[in-house]
Amino acid sequence: MWGASDVLVVTAPLPGALRVRLLPEARANTLGFPRVGPKRSFALRPDLPAGAPLHVTEAGAELWVSAGGLSLHLNRVTGAWRVVTGHGPADDGAEGRELVSALDWSGEAPAQRPALDAERFNLRRTRLHLDAPDGAMYLGFGERVGPLDKRGMHLTFWNTDCFPHHTETDPLYVSVPFTTVLQGGRAHGVFVDEPWRMEVDVARAHPTELRWASAGPELDVYVLAGPRPADVLRRYADLTGYAPMPPLWALGAAQSRWGYRTAEDLRAVIQGYRDRALPLDSVYVDIDYMDAYKVWTVSRANFPDLRAFVKEAGEQGVKLVPIVDPGVKLEAGYDVYEEAAKGDHLVRTARGDVLVGEVWPDPAVFPDFTRPEVVAWWAGRHKFFADAGIQGQWNDMNEPACFSLRQPRETEGKTLPYDARHGTRTHLEVHNAYANGMSEASRAGYAKFSPQIRPWVLTRAGYAGIQRHATVWTGDNTATWSHLALSLPMIQGLGLSGIPFAAADVGGFAGDTTGELLARWYQAAVGYAFVRNHAALGTTDQEPWRFGDAVTDVIRSALELRYRLLPHLYTLAQGATRTALPVMRPLALHWPADEDAAREDTQYLLGEGLMVAPVLRAGHRRRLVYLPAGRWAAVFNLAQFGPVHAGGQHVVADAPLDTLPMYLRAGTALPVTEAAPHTTSARWARLSWLIHAGPDGFVGQLFEDAGDGHAGGRATRLVGERQGARLTIRRETEGDTGSFEQRETMHVLGLGHVRAAQGAASFAYEDGVLRLTLPARWQTVTLDLEPGDDEDPGDVGTVPAGGA
Ligand code: GLC
Repeated sequence: MWGASDVLVVTAPLPGALRVRLLPEARANTLGFPRVGPKRSFALRPDLPAGAPLHVTEAGAELWVSAGGLSLHLNRVTGAWRVVTGHGPADDGAEGRELVSALDWSGEAPAQRPALDAERFNLRRTRLHLDAPDGAMYLGFGERVGPLDKRGMHLTFWNTDCFPHHTETDPLYVSVPFTTVLQGGRAHGVFVDEPWRMEVDVARAHPTELRWASAGPELDVYVLAGPRPADVLRRYADLTGYAPMPPLWALGAAQSRWGYRTAEDLRAVIQGYRDRALPLDSVYVDIDYMDAYKVWTVSRANFPDLRAFVKEAGEQGVKLVPIVDPGVKLEAGYDVYEEAAKGDHLVRTARGDVLVGEVWPDPAVFPDFTRPEVVAWWAGRHKFFADAGIQGQWNDMNEPACFSLRQPRETEGKTLPYDARHGTRTHLEVHNAYANGMSEASRAGYAKFSPQIRPWVLTRAGYAGIQRHATVWTGDNTATWSHLALSLPMIQGLGLSGIPFAAADVGGFAGDTTGELLARWYQAAVGYAFVRNHAALGTTDQEPWRFGDAVTDVIRSALELRYRLLPHLYTLAQGATRTALPVMRPLALHWPADEDAAREDTQYLLGEGLMVAPVLRAGHRRRLVYLPAGRWAAVFNLAQFGPVHAGGQHVVADAPLDTLPMYLRAGTALPVTEAAPHTTSARWARLSWLIHAGPDGFVGQLFEDAGDGHAGGRATRLVGERQGARLTIRRETEGDTGSFEQRETMHVLGLGHVRAAQGAASFAYEDGVLRLTLPARWQTVTLDLEPGDDEDPGDVGTVPAGGA
């Protein structure tokens, strides 16, 4: 390793983050020094502050570079390097914890002339081998099948349209070369910011090495400090950006189907929901709304008046979310094509002609979203939707998918050939970043033409940083139990890859769903970031009422559960925009040192205190649930507390078809509201706190605002502090949400008998649960508890918890 033209560049972009740019075989400039050009990143936030100064210590062949709590140690003879915590030798010689150790890094000189055929591309041109100590777990890496820990897998970064994907398919639609490494309960991160086609071998080919290989000339490595997984995620988002706040309506129920063709079809869907008292906030409309699949057109026959229809649906509390595909139909006289051609906005072949392929429109050409001027042009096109009152958009096929090419070339997956041209770059270099530019354009378009709203942008493909522009759905899954189960680690893995808002198609996209599967899927999706039922053309109908009344009732309860949880889910969503912690969280995030918890991917957390354990198998009416440290009370349907279990063990949950097992951890206060046909605002007229008091009390969080737009909001911390026989409950608020009527109650499990409740409007104590009604604008409630009464009821029987 370590040749004369190998270059390693160290910077410290943020505290706790070291950037190590590795350029093996950097080309020499005229003076013979290796050339290190500036680099454009598609992942980094554009407003990244200037980095921190570096502290350098040299001793013979040893070089230490320290900044912001991390140090790189380089052997200048061998080129071996490693990153440790602390300040290197400046720390009185005490060495910190080793996070990363590079065993080998190397590369090959580029071909002398630009390659004209795919075979001439060396897909493993640049390599980096890192030590992968025994027992370390590797989480994240973007959108992947398989368990949360990717150790033992070989993964490719090449966004791919796979219809449908399977439980072994790799790669999928979203490439994020970022992993959180868990070792002995501590975490650190490794992010390789290269949009080029890459691969990572996660201790598969070699059992103790993490081997990266890129088709590009360098590897741009970020080492991120922990020590908690949440710290790694925050640092990653400090680099690549935080997701913007979604509008409340997008967290409500959504119905979609490839096959709804007309305004009449959608009208019938909305009516179907309303007739059966099923909540609904949005309908998605697939490719058939367009005129001959021409993007930015509407078929007059199918939607005679789009604007009027958007308004009509809006009056029923329903938003319309149309699909947008990047492929532009090549047709003389079609304004979008003409503009793209005239503006030189299109991807070209290696020979320089406009590249022509086939997608839904055929023939189709491809805007080059890797160039800022093309992003700006596409953003301008969104006026069409904004004028019609549309507030949400579904960007599909943006890997980009291409079914066939007019000038046949070899491709990897159904996409453009490696040697296609994006300005001066090859497709091999920027393929993975294509969707980022497309979704950036969508967000910019709505910001320009509908600045008063929060746009909802959903994308299928993406690269690191996509969370700044769009939310992600997991593409073309199937209506099978294995895909229901797969959705949890997939969504959790996306969450660990910096994408907090992700979900799978409820019911399954390809194939015919069944009533039981659909019902269980809706239950599992109670904690998805968004809940969209979507199905492919030609599959059996899968709206919630298609499988008889019993199934409809189960789905209605699941949707009502979702709507009752919205104060909590909305608070988690707002938290995600500040902390990058995803809405649906793997247990690994909060219990990294508990191996049973860290490897659990059949259940999830909504915040630190609410565990959700859906049934993921046909016919099952019970399931095992892992409860990490703490005490956990079963909560049936958010209305009844069940037995309290000590954590650190598996328990058996009863789960007949109408039951979604959930557990509330001692010390947690959970804000809930009443079910509603659709959302209106996140200023909850009825608010209940479901509280499982611990020995010291409890804490809860609530974020409230108008549910859309950009006006402030109010953050509430509910704190219950227990001292001896007294429990003081305080409400600490920050910000403002204007005046509105709120009726607030509390349902508290885990307290002894209450003798007096000063500051409450009323209180009652039934079967182990204390019910408090609060006066308007209350600040403090003080409870006097019966002395000597144990606050911990142990394994109690089922007791009603109330609810809103
Ligand atoms: C792709 C999308 C799917 C959509 C279909 C038709 O397969 O992933 O969601 O329904 O295209 O537009």
